[in-house]
Amino acid sequence: MSAASSPPSLETPRLILRPFALDDADDVFAYSAEEYEEIRAVLPDFPQITPGDTAAVLRHTLKRYGGGEFYDWAVTCRELGTRAIGGIGFEQDVPPRAKTAELGFVLRRDMWGKGIIPEAIEAVVSFGFAALGLAEVAAYHMPGNEQSARALEKCSFRHTGREEHFGVVMERWARAK
Ligand SMILES: CC(C)(COP(=O)(O)OP(=O)(O)OC[C@H]1O[C@@H](n2cnc3c(N)ncnc32)[C@H](O)[C@@H]1OP(=O)(O)O)[C@@H](O)C(=O)NCCC(=O)NCCS
Repeated sequence: MSAASSPPSLETPRLILRPFALDDADDVFAYSAEEYEEIRAVLPDFPQITPGDTAAVLRHTLKRYGGGEFYDWAVTCRELGTRAIGGIGFEQDVPPRAKTAELGFVLRRDMWGKGIIPEAIEAVVSFGFAALGLAEVAAYHMPGNEQSARALEKCSFRHTGREEHFGVVMERWARAK
């Protein structure tokens, strides 16, 4: 994979959003395990995640970077160095809504409540509108996930209602250009 095919790093006052690397595996596993625990509180049959799963997902991410049209960043905080404390990215053109990308994000639990994800969302959404020509960015979360709702609300997303998404009823939010 050439560096040129990875998404560009995006900088904000406190954060550097950079492409993932294979040696992020331990940090990605740590925050993913926390996220899976949250999901199991709502969907008890949701699987456990293993370090092997995380390594496979990272390899897949790097392979998708090679296509040049996959945008997924490791969230790093300047004051903590280069370690991944979370992730944020897009799935583009989710049918049937062309020119809409779906935004996903996750943050290490001990970093919640500092406005880090809203800061990252602003950078990624601006990039999506300016560099990718998106008309809309959408985001989905499980009912009851109030912290995600609040992070999206702070970034001028509008709640558009509940809808089935990959077989699960979720809250949908969107922000138009
Ligand atoms: C959603 C998430 C990324 C929040 O990021 P964040 O950087 O903490 O966002 P903010 O600091 O703006 O906090 C958002 C809200 O979370 C709540 N919150 C803050 N700290 C919290 C904590 N320790 N525990 C629970 N809720 C908390 C507050 O209501 C806050 O709103 P406020 O600032 O108006 O008080 C984080 O909760 C997360 O990783 N969740 C799991 C993944 C997920 O749900 N992804 C969304 C679907 S793609």
